[in-house]
Amino acid sequence: MFAVYAESFSTDDPLSGLVVGERPDPEVPDGWTTVTVKAAALNHHDIWSLRGVGLREEALPMILGCDAAGIDEDGNEVVIHAVISDPSWTGDETLDPKRSLLSERHQGTFADKVVVPKGNVVPKPESLSFEEAACLPTAWLTAYRMLFVQGGLKPGDTVLVQGAGGGVATALITLAHAGGLRVYATSRDEQKRKRAAELGADEVFESNARLPQRVDAVMETVGKATWSHSVKSLRPGGKIVISGTTSGADVDSAELTRVFFLQLQVIGSTMGTRTELASLVNLLDVTGARPVIDQVLPMEKARDGFAAMASGDLFGKVVFTR
Ligand SMILES: NC(=O)c1ccc[n+]([C@@H]2O[C@H](COP(=O)([O-])OP(=O)(O)OC[C@H]3O[C@@H](n4cnc5c(N)ncnc54)[C@H](OP(=O)(O)O)[C@@H]3O)[C@@H](O)[C@H]2O)c1
Repeated sequence: MFAVYAESFSTDDPLSGLVVGERPDPEVPDGWTTVTVKAAALNHHDIWSLRGVGLREEALPMILGCDAAGIDEDGNEVVIHAVISDPSWTGDETLDPKRSLLSERHQGTFADKVVVPKGNVVPKPESLSFEEAACLPTAWLTAYRMLFVQGGLKPGDTVLVQGAGGGVATALITLAHAGGLRVYATSRDEQKRKRAAELGADEVFESNARLPQRVDAVMETVGKATWSHSVKSLRPGGKIVISGTTSGADVDSAELTRVFFLQLQVIGSTMGTRTELASLVNLLDVTGARPVIDQVLPMEKARDGFAAMASGDLFGKVVFTR
């Protein structure tokens, strides 16, 4: 079958190990199902895989891609949940120490077909296109869990989203607005601040600027460059929910005095459960909120999409169609 896969790793030139070609049809283990891929979305995770981060040499060649929407064996339109937990695991899949993401241990979604455990498909409503649905399983699910599960935010609360141009950050702004929150967003770039306001941010600020009021929660994916500002922006008892550290993880000051004196909470967040993916799909269905898509390409042109992401010049997702 047609597939986009990693054949080798390179730290300096990740695209050198990318192949757009053919791979054998997948074998289907007991309890798993085949989904015919209609659209698949690209993540930074796929570039990291080509650099050899999170993927072992023995696993090569590996079909890339965590995110997809398609048609299951019974003809239903579905979205794929990318977190694969151990068959013996029950409860929150993200807490399974043996969990992996599609394309780490099991072949990924950039292909004609992908094979997943039967429990890893979620119905796709007609209101969402395959391209829109394909954007949800990684960055959007991460944003959903940060806001509404780990952050426990409810309508009327005020949230600060750091680094407004990022893939997770744009999802955070859109979902927070759809969920009835007051949204502040920061970005270093004026154009990105403008786009953030169009997405639903109530007020936008330069990175590290003073805010009009302290917030109930901060959504962090930037790390070192914004950490101190995040801590200082919280009301007493407020929460920082962190799912990434794009600018570095070694902060100059953890601001520990503020953390205990103001009784702040620092909460980690990674991906989300199948049930949370279903709730995210429902939220988009009901509210009309939609993922921001920078470009849609036929999967044969996947290399162009990888190059665009590697250059960093994107606002929203890159989607491949079959
Ligand atoms: N835990 C999970 O499940 C999960 C899932 C998905 C992603 N992640 C992680 O989350 C992080 C963000 O991912 P992403 O795909 O959203 O990344 P991204 O699209 O590259 O965006 C990161 C944003 O960080 C801001 N930024 C970067 N360097 C900065 C600096 N020096 N100073 C201030 N701001 C800076 C930028 O915002 P501005 O240019 O607007 O200032 C940029 O748009 C990554 O570390 C990724 O690995 C985690």
